[in-house]
Amino acid sequence: MRDQAEALRVKMMQADGTAARSVAIISGKGGVGKTNFTTNFATALQAEGKRVIIVDMDIGMGNVHILLGTSAEYSLKDYLTGERSLEETITESADGLRFISGGSGLETVLQWTEQRFARLIGAFEKLQQQYDYILFDMGAGASESAIELIVSVDEIIVIATPEPTSITDAYSMVKFICLRDPEKTFHVVSNRVQPKEDGNEAITRLQFAMRKFLNKETTLLGALPEDAAVHKSVIAQRPFVTLYPHAPITRRMNAIAANYLSSGTDIDIKEGSTFLSQLKKLFARGRG
Ligand SMILES: Nc1ncnc2c1ncn2[C@@H]1O[C@H](COP(=O)(O)OP(=O)(O)OP(=O)(O)O)[C@@H](O)[C@H]1O
Ligand SMILES: [Mg+2]
Repeated sequence: MRDQAEALRVKMMQADGTAARSVAIISGKGGVGKTNFTTNFATALQAEGKRVIIVDMDIGMGNVHILLGTSAEYSLKDYLTGERSLEETITESADGLRFISGGSGLETVLQWTEQRFARLIGAFEKLQQQYDYILFDMGAGASESAIELIVSVDEIIVIATPEPTSITDAYSMVKFICLRDPEKTFHVVSNRVQPKEDGNEAITRLQFAMRKFLNKETTLLGALPEDAAVHKSVIAQRPFVTLYPHAPITRRMNAIAANYLSSGTDIDIKEGSTFLSQLKKLFARGRG
C-alpha cells in the first residue's frame, strides 16, 4: 500500500517537473558528528527506497570518502573546470552510497565566471532529476562560499551536542543564516547524548531561542546517543546503520529518517525545490 502511494507520488513529482530536495547538514562548532550523521542518514533514507547523493562540501578537509571506505578519483572542481564529466565525479561506495567530493579550491561562487556558474547549475539540474535527496555535508562554521550554498538549499539540518558551547554556536550559525534568508526551513538533531541525559533538553533550549529571537519554528527530528558503534564504524569505514543494524543508535537514526520523511512530504508536493532558482538569484545579485 505504502509502496503504491510512494510510486504515485514519485510519478506525480516527475510529471510536475518537481526535483530533488536539497538539504545542508550544518553545525556551529566543528566535530559534533555532521559527517557521520550525513552518511548514516543517507543510508537510512536509501533503505526507505529514496535515491540519495551526498555532496562533500567540507572543502579541503572533506572526509565523506574516508567514512565510506573509498576514494574519489575526481571532484566537483574537476567538473566545473571542464576537465571531467559529472558522471566521472560520482563515486559509489561498496555499500552502494553515492557521493561527490567538492575538491579543494572551490572558492566563492560570486567570483566565478558565467560559464563556470552555468556548469554548476547544469550539474545540479541533472542531479535533481536523478535523485530524491541531495545532502550537502558542510564544513564547520561559516565560510563565505558555504553560506552562499546554505542560503540556497531547500532545508537545513542543524546538528548539535548537548554541550552549551555547541548549542550557542549552533544558534549563532542559525541566526546568521536567518538574517540572509528568514524563510529557510530548519530541522534539529542532537547528537552524542549521554545514556542518562535527556537529549532533548539542550536542543529544546536551542529551539526556544530560535522561536523567541528569530521567530523561527523548527522540527526536532530526534536525538542520537553517545555510542561506541560510531567509533567502530569509523574504523571499519562503513556506516553504523549498515554495520550494526540492531544497535540502539541505528534504531534512533531510522526513526530520524522516518520523522524527516513524514515532515517533508507535504513540502515536496506543495512547493517543490527552490534550490536552483535561489542559486541563480544569488549569482545574479553578485553580478549586479
Ligand atoms: N553519537 C556518537 N557517539 C560516539 N561518537 C561519535 C558520535 N557522533 C560522532 N562521534 C565521533 O565524533 C567525531 C567527529 O565526528 P564527525 O567527523 O562526524 O563530526 P563533524 O561534525 O563532521 O566534524 P567536522 O566539523 O570536522 O566536519 C568522530 O570521531 C566520531 O567517531
Ligand atoms: Mg565533517
